[in-house]
Amino acid sequence: AKRIKKSDGVNMVTCQAPVNIAIIKYWGKRNEQLILPLNSSLSVTLDKKELHSSTTVAVSEDFSEDCLWLNGRKHNIAEMPRIQKCLATMRKLSHNESLKDCCIHICSQNNFPTAAGLASSAAGYSCLVFALSRLLQVKGDLSRIARQGSGSACRSMYGGFVEWEKGDAEDGSDSIAKQIATEDHWPGLRVLILVVNEHKKGTSSTDGMKRSVETSDLLKFRSEFCVPERMKIMKKAISERDFETFAETTMKESNQLHAVCQDTYPPIAPPYMNQTSHSIVQLVTLYNNFCGQLKVAYTFDAGPNAFLFVMENDIAEISSLIRHFFPPETDRGFIQGMEVKSQTDLNKNLLKSITIEPSPGAVKYVISTKVGSGPSELGEEHSLLDENGLPK
Ligand code: DP6
Repeated sequence: AKRIKKSDGVNMVTCQAPVNIAIIKYWGKRNEQLILPLNSSLSVTLDKKELHSSTTVAVSEDFSEDCLWLNGRKHNIAEMPRIQKCLATMRKLSHNESLKDCCIHICSQNNFPTAAGLASSAAGYSCLVFALSRLLQVKGDLSRIARQGSGSACRSMYGGFVEWEKGDAEDGSDSIAKQIATEDHWPGLRVLILVVNEHKKGTSSTDGMKRSVETSDLLKFRSEFCVPERMKIMKKAISERDFETFAETTMKESNQLHAVCQDTYPPIAPPYMNQTSHSIVQLVTLYNNFCGQLKVAYTFDAGPNAFLFVMENDIAEISSLIRHFFPPETDRGFIQGMEVKSQTDLNKNLLKSITIEPSPGAVKYVISTKVGSGPSELGEEHSLLDENGLPK
């Protein structure tokens, strides 16, 4: 085996990138190769403190091939065309001639368990592209490159509230992400992620949306007529910090995504939302009804976990309700992340109005978080690779 020379020959950069949750959903491509979407989408970037990918990229004349370690396991880049594409594009755009032809080592990990079924590809690709941009000195829009790793990854290139404009150009040059409001635009807006207890591996987003494009008439209608209108409504709601409009549009979008999945033929099986997901929808609906206004909004992606939006002032009551209807097996660590003040007494009439059966253990745990910032570079001490460019 080739001996790897020490230290001075290895250049490296370590970065961290966030997860995002779509409130106007991306579902369906008009170009599979370039990952160009049928419609624009909009997301909220979540705080890196609770959920993030970290990636170290290293370059050296002494490396003999590109290597990738993901969550502690070596992967074969030859079988990962999307990684290859990101690497090739970043090399082509590099302003550093001496690094252009060198092989690259990549080591990446998430701070959340993959088994939780939380989207890791968006944070992963966004982190890879951001880290490579620092290593290879690439300037300009990076979101269109992250997009070619995974569509939703382009939105993780920014913090706050982010729009992915579908674009019109055939080469995808205008299919890029833009920040529409910063992470401190809407103080008090909080996110609760209800991690649903289930490990079943379903259909991937990539495969699911492909089948929807081929078979769902509802998807055509949605992308042409519903989404453009909802984009306008949502942007206005965000700019005015109008929680009720934001909440209503968010829930309608989630409902329509899952209706499209049902309209897909044959339908996506097992369905992304399971019994627990539907109970959560019911809980939120009945709670909002009781309050006489929208206080919580749910949204679901290609899995059973619920993402709830709620204002800070209401979070104690809502988490108590969640605990009441989805009592954990052990109380310790049920709510992780940002502090949630506990409230023990729930209004009797409120409890009576929520006509769902408690499901012990159905929600494994809850991650409490908020809107956060985009990718950032970390100090050397956070490197995932040692001085030889190998995993620590
Ligand atoms: C349901 O970005 O994972 O989360 O572009 O094929 O990699 P590919 O798909 P991906 O799809 C995400 C779909 C979604 C909705 C969203 O994030 O907008």
